[in-house]
Amino acid sequence: METTRATLDVHPWKISTSTLDKTKRRLHESITSLGNGYMGMRGNFEEYYSADHHGGTYLAGVWYPDKTRVGWWKNGYPDYFGKVINAVNFIALDIFVNDTRVDLANCNYKDFYVELNMYDGILSRQFVVDLGNTQVKFSFERFISITKKELACITLQAEVLQGTAEIYVVSKLDSNVQNEDSNYGETFWQERNKEVSEKLSSLTTQTIENPFGIEQFVVTTSMTHNLKPKKIKKEPLFISNEFEFFLETGQTVRLEKEVLVITSRNVPEEKQIEQAQKLLQTYGTDFSTLKAEHSEAWHKRWELADVAITGDDKAQQGIRFNLFQLFSTYYGEDERLNIGPKGFTGEKYGGATYWDTEAFALPLYLALAEPSVPKNLLKYRYNQLPQAYYNADKQGLKGALYPMVTFNGIECHNEWEITFEEIHRNGAIAYAIYNYTNYTGDTSYLKKEGIEVLIAISRFWADRVHYSKRNKSYMIHGVTGPNEYENNVNNNWYTNKIASWVLQYTLDNYQKYEKEITISLPKMEQEKWQDIIDHMYFPVDEQLGIFVQHDTFLDKDLKTKDVLAKNELPLSQHWSWDRILRSCFIKQADVVQGLYFFGNHFSLEEKRRNFNFYEPMTLHESSLSASVHAILAAEIGEIDKALEMYERTARLDLDNYNNDTQDGLHITSMTGSWLAIVQGFAQMKTFDETLSFAPLLPKKWQSYAFHINYRHRLLFIKVSNEEVELHLNHGTPLTLEVYHKKYTLTDDLFVQTKNS
Ligand code: BGC
Repeated sequence: METTRATLDVHPWKISTSTLDKTKRRLHESITSLGNGYMGMRGNFEEYYSADHHGGTYLAGVWYPDKTRVGWWKNGYPDYFGKVINAVNFIALDIFVNDTRVDLANCNYKDFYVELNMYDGILSRQFVVDLGNTQVKFSFERFISITKKELACITLQAEVLQGTAEIYVVSKLDSNVQNEDSNYGETFWQERNKEVSEKLSSLTTQTIENPFGIEQFVVTTSMTHNLKPKKIKKEPLFISNEFEFFLETGQTVRLEKEVLVITSRNVPEEKQIEQAQKLLQTYGTDFSTLKAEHSEAWHKRWELADVAITGDDKAQQGIRFNLFQLFSTYYGEDERLNIGPKGFTGEKYGGATYWDTEAFALPLYLALAEPSVPKNLLKYRYNQLPQAYYNADKQGLKGALYPMVTFNGIECHNEWEITFEEIHRNGAIAYAIYNYTNYTGDTSYLKKEGIEVLIAISRFWADRVHYSKRNKSYMIHGVTGPNEYENNVNNNWYTNKIASWVLQYTLDNYQKYEKEITISLPKMEQEKWQDIIDHMYFPVDEQLGIFVQHDTFLDKDLKTKDVLAKNELPLSQHWSWDRILRSCFIKQADVVQGLYFFGNHFSLEEKRRNFNFYEPMTLHESSLSASVHAILAAEIGEIDKALEMYERTARLDLDNYNNDTQDGLHITSMTGSWLAIVQGFAQMKTFDETLSFAPLLPKKWQSYAFHINYRHRLLFIKVSNEEVELHLNHGTPLTLEVYHKKYTLTDDLFVQTKNS
């Protein structure tokens, strides 16, 4: 199967196309998704569309625990899988013109155009329905408000270009929705209530019961329109307001639909309709005012977060697209939420939280959000510490094991090679505590909640290692490293490295802050941990000068990826799993991930040798891979490779590199393009509490510029061919390094680039 490219127009601020390609509908639906952290949806058409597509609306934190069903049950398997569930379709506006249903898969139309304006946060669409004597131009606009989280607004404008038209519009709230991967057509919603009035029509639904004692969510969706409906209909899990218009040539009608979505996560069922009415009054119903306020808030976000690239529109579009979709998924307003790998754009992965958050998302939120946002991400894990103890206990282990996939802290991934074996995830949770503390200089979390988490994770590692008498060292057997194209390996270098680092970091901080910490760590336990650190086994190959991915990696049939034919890629979609597991091909950064996290532990030469050995075998079939490689490539001076990796991460979804964007966007790896620019091209490092840059400029680019928050300061950095410009926009003077030379940034600083 050839990769299906998305073929959208290149523009610095817009994603658009004037072609409706039926074979790419799912892909374009993913790419034109909208969200506001509270709810979101794929870029579905408002009107009925009969050809292949995937209708999906999702509400943050609203999920269903689906029974894990496998015949070959093994002790330790999770009882349920946390499913992201498709929720009420509230954008629906079915349209009929002179009794012909408007369905772009079936009727004659022209001048199709769809546009996602990322600067304003607006999705719009137009087309002309051509019925021979009658031609009607339809224009839609919609947004999910980022200032009023429960609010979504949709407008439909119809203009008769020729003939006379009887236009009938059915505006719906429809909870007869299914998940794409439902077992036996299972649906997840049951009806609770329907209330219809001229002002506000509401549908209240509840998730079906579950046998696991997990909360059932109640959701009330209400709609109001700027015009009076001719008819109101109620059906099971469904209500509609219906409108009829008779228009002559040149006449126009505009229907505005305002939707409020309230869930039992915030408001109890009995108060939901009352709350919807209250919000309607407070928010008002003027579309253009609501839209202006929403767009203004996007402009403010861009002021801080934008990365401006000159000389490469594709690169520019890529980073803005990623930032847009990432912030549409999570902007840190609700500490109970996290960043799901598909956000509001698909159902594929289930769960809301992966190690992706700590490993890939946190650094971006550290630099682009208020310190409370990354702190909330840490607290989220602290609040789930009891569940992490439960997860470890379920595997017969001490301490805490954070889940690979979860909604509520309980592991819900049901593949043994991941649930039981991909334990490196536990290290990322600890690494995030280090990252936060080191970046912000704020030790308050570390000394209180953080140390508890660190001790709990360390206890897990201390129990999970075993001592090899033969080798006189501690080992970790039976794991899956970050490279999921191998399972059940022994001594995955990355896992061993992060495990011993966690033990060391915990000990260091316990000893440093012992007097201020409320929990105590027995001396014997400390000694045991030190012994593990001192005698941890790391597979290395002296001759090649590399860290070995795991004990037997070098015995594999080692080949580089250029032997693979184009039609074998992505391998995950063409090779049997057995063949993949035996091969040397690597899904994502593994040893290289360790070199990135612990960049200050290794020399440039070590980084270069390992990068050059592993990258040619790495397929980057996890979206998380390219960014880490971009950063390392830039550091070792491979600027072209870094750019290739940047493009792969920045345009992963826009160009559908892994042929899976139709299932949803790769939200958690969207931080990758930002990481690739800031930590890659600009070489921003914060190790040892020192901010440093060593910027490079890809040949194709004329310049790039971005802002970062750093320790109560706001910095602006611009890199051009000639110079690196640093500006302190806000805050007290700061000592930093540029190209390894110390400067004090008080206002402006200009340093000649290495490129010039
Ligand atoms: C990757 C994991 C990642 C998950 C969710 C998988 O394909 O291998 O590392 O956590 O996707 O993004």
